[in-house]
Amino acid sequence: MSTTFTIDTSTSRATPTPQPMRRLTIPAIAAHKANGTTATPLVMLTAYTVRMAQLLDPHCDILLVGDSLGQVIYGLPSTVPVTLEIMCAHGAAVVRGSYHSVVIIDMPFGSYEESPEQAFRSCARVLKETGAAGVKLEGGAEMAETIAFLVARGIPVMGHIGLTPQSVNTLGGYGARGRSDAEAAKIVADAKAVSDAGAFACVVEGVVAPLGEAVTKAMACPTIGIGASSACDGQVLVAEDMLGLFERVPRFVKRYADMAAFVSEAAAQYAADVRARVFPGDEQTYSVK
Ligand code: KIV
Repeated sequence: MSTTFTIDTSTSRATPTPQPMRRLTIPAIAAHKANGTTATPLVMLTAYTVRMAQLLDPHCDILLVGDSLGQVIYGLPSTVPVTLEIMCAHGAAVVRGSYHSVVIIDMPFGSYEESPEQAFRSCARVLKETGAAGVKLEGGAEMAETIAFLVARGIPVMGHIGLTPQSVNTLGGYGARGRSDAEAAKIVADAKAVSDAGAFACVVEGVVAPLGEAVTKAMACPTIGIGASSACDGQVLVAEDMLGLFERVPRFVKRYADMAAFVSEAAAQYAADVRARVFPGDEQTYSVK
């Protein structure tokens, strides 16, 4: 599936904003961390649709079109079945709905691991079809060659280390990583490899708190934590988790709203009004003149 849009780097692609403003850039995100310190943590949320992008965009530095949309939007059992077509369609929608945040697209499982060349083809397609600024891919030292290959060819890469959900079938679950010394040492080595390869930022997911800090110290680029402690240079959450759309609340999520109850109450009220013929009322009805 291909998408068409008009590139306008200073305003929203779809709806010009009343007050045009410049979109943040990848170098501006990377520059948040200077000499190993970040004064103000980076704010990242996931977005999968145009309307959610419009609402979240003014508050964020980065909007991530995460492959978590597999579970959140499509009800899939994991991120493994997510395809490039799905990521391109949602990525283009989020770019159209935003004008301030940097938009990053997750590369889906199977689209980049085979070789640097395969990764380049897939990432170039994503950037062409969505208008996003960069991509995110999972993996540590084993992906360093690919990250360097992409960066050298004009594709900004955000890394993703620690708990890497696309590897759920080899990890056997989504438990926190880094509890043994050997596993912690491997994750710090991954962090150095991804940073040295030229990633402009890196998601650190599901690691014990001291490891979140060690990895942040080890990387020149900003770390963006999810379940990785406040020591990270930024934080990310899945927006639907933060908004309270799901019953299950993972330990690392803080709920800032109870949207599930809000939606359910509104739907119940609508249903009652329809059944009682209260809706539509005069205000929602066209008159002859
Ligand atoms: O897919 C996703 O939403 C992610 C974030 C949780 C970091 O990778």
